[in-house]
Amino acid sequence: MKIFPNPEFVKNAYFKSFSEYKELYNYSMNHFEEFWANQAQENLTFFEDFTQVLDEKYFPKLEWFKGWKVNICYEAVDKNLKKNADKIALIFEWERWDSQKITYKELAENVGKSANLLKSLWIVKWSRVIFYMPQILESVYLMLACLRLWAIHSIVFWGFSAESLKDRIEDLKADFLITADWAFRKWKPYLLKNIADEALEKSSHEVKKVLLVKRNFEEINISKNDVIYNDLIKSQSEICDFEKLDSEDTSFILYTSGSTGKPKWIIHSTAGYALWAKLTTKWVFDLQENDIFFSTADIWWITGHTYTVYWPLLNGWTTLIYEWNPLFPKEDRIWEIIEKYKVSKFYTAPTLIRLLHKTGENLPKNFDLSSLKVLWSVWEPIDSETWDWYFETVGNKKASIADTYWQTETGGHIIAPFPFAIPMKKRSAGFPLPGICWEIVDKNWKKLWVEENWFFVISKPWPAMARWIWWDDEKFVKTYFSDIFREKKPLYFSGDGWFYDEDWYIFITGRVDDIVNISGHKIWIAEVEDIVDKDENIAECALVWIPDELTWEALFGFVVLKDKKNISNKDLLQKLNISLRKEIWPIVSLKNILITSELPKTRSGKIVRRVLRNLAKWKEIEGDLSTVENKEILWIIKEKIKNFN
Ligand code: WTA
Repeated sequence: MKIFPNPEFVKNAYFKSFSEYKELYNYSMNHFEEFWANQAQENLTFFEDFTQVLDEKYFPKLEWFKGWKVNICYEAVDKNLKKNADKIALIFEWERWDSQKITYKELAENVGKSANLLKSLWIVKWSRVIFYMPQILESVYLMLACLRLWAIHSIVFWGFSAESLKDRIEDLKADFLITADWAFRKWKPYLLKNIADEALEKSSHEVKKVLLVKRNFEEINISKNDVIYNDLIKSQSEICDFEKLDSEDTSFILYTSGSTGKPKWIIHSTAGYALWAKLTTKWVFDLQENDIFFSTADIWWITGHTYTVYWPLLNGWTTLIYEWNPLFPKEDRIWEIIEKYKVSKFYTAPTLIRLLHKTGENLPKNFDLSSLKVLWSVWEPIDSETWDWYFETVGNKKASIADTYWQTETGGHIIAPFPFAIPMKKRSAGFPLPGICWEIVDKNWKKLWVEENWFFVISKPWPAMARWIWWDDEKFVKTYFSDIFREKKPLYFSGDGWFYDEDWYIFITGRVDDIVNISGHKIWIAEVEDIVDKDENIAECALVWIPDELTWEALFGFVVLKDKKNISNKDLLQKLNISLRKEIWPIVSLKNILITSELPKTRSGKIVRRVLRNLAKWKEIEGDLSTVENKEILWIIKEKIKNFN
């Protein structure tokens, strides 16, 4: 079913209709290089012109916009000074109520000083700088300062243990570490510096210096290798020249989130990454002059890089960054912030929407949320119960819901809806963005047509795609490029399953393992989860496939109950199967379920299905668990499964 967007917002939209979008899409496919050259020239400043749009000689290492000189920090900061000097660039909000607002002028001053400070420590071209920083303004200043000097930042989540931080320092052979004395969550300080010290002590690799941002809360250990940001910053000049980088110079290195296997360091380029961040903003987020953008993504995640920090600033927007737990100190904190700042565009993940729904179904009604125009989502398919609540209760049926699909490796959205131009369809992530040449193929890489469900591949490069995995070319090729060749080039394989319907709307079925084959019928697990989620007893569920003698594969469910209900696995299973048979198909049923108090999740809230798949098959808990927040639950589930009958 199609739901039409609010006509009030359509008149200023970038794409006002499907045909406008389709025209640009077709142009990008038929005049590939011309399209990219035009977009680049229109959107970024180049200090030296490019001589070639795309050089594929060393495929899969690509050179986009050869000869071009650019700087992301210049684009995000200096360029905004002409028109936007007094406009608010950053809003910082945290549990302690005393929020801060920073204009573009103040941002430029802070970034200039921070860059000079880094220079004074010999953080220069190609220095690799690990950030172990909370979500605070200084993190943003220092990220931009690194880009100004062409030092390469790698942000590590502040919640990671000393062991995980140590691994990353060693892996990257980091030159510098930037940390703070503490991070703050639920009114509790986390002593980051102490954890960083432990990591450095264990590490076989030594960093040259540790830059410490002091928030002055508790006394901490200062060692001779530490320098204190707050002391040094005072004497720095606000003026700092920026490096003119080649298009292909590395902008940053980031670990993948690890929900799909061992994390890998992904390398992103400069011009291609910045261009795509800017374009996706225009097309998908539909930038308007006075929009206030609030993304709940932390800076250590790719969504935090691209859409909390770089993209809003590249476009002269106002972006809200926060340091708090979304339900603390009150369960309506998010709605309060949206009302307080008149947020117009809100970006989050289904896991948080589900949590907000579960903990306070009617809380949004207590606030004036009429500033909201679009509610975005990313990271997982958004189930229909959550979609309905997001649309009806949060958006008051006026704001559009827009699900976006992308990966750390794609640099920015690749499939997304255009929220004002095109009617919404529940569960669809929308359309391929201009320049994304996609296909759906089967296991033999044969091209498939409408409504068939299989692998999603991209057959032409785009500028923001990851350039390589840190020191592992072979892994890069093996992980992302299929062994089928088109025009002598392999296809980029996202690892996700897809189908599209007769109106060209794309539906993501999840990682390819998220399709179950029951008696020859390929069933999209997310669709079954959608029905299970609707059951009145269930707060959350994750289904995985297990082998079955009769049907080849079958479904196993891990479920979390809404309240401490007294219902047995067996009774709940029976009840769920009745609804599944009725709502999907007689063939679809769950073979078994396990009631658990919680599901294993990554720090950004994504369910770690890879481990659940193994547990359901009675296998050992293995693989990299560094990104799993609540690891203990894995052993509890394992024990329960052992005693299962
Ligand atoms: C999944 C996050 C369904 C997908 C930006 C992808 C999604 C992985 C969606 C990348 C969506 C992302 N619907 N699944 N809208 N968006 N995914 O690298 O499996 O942290 O491959 O990047 O998340 O996760 P990553």
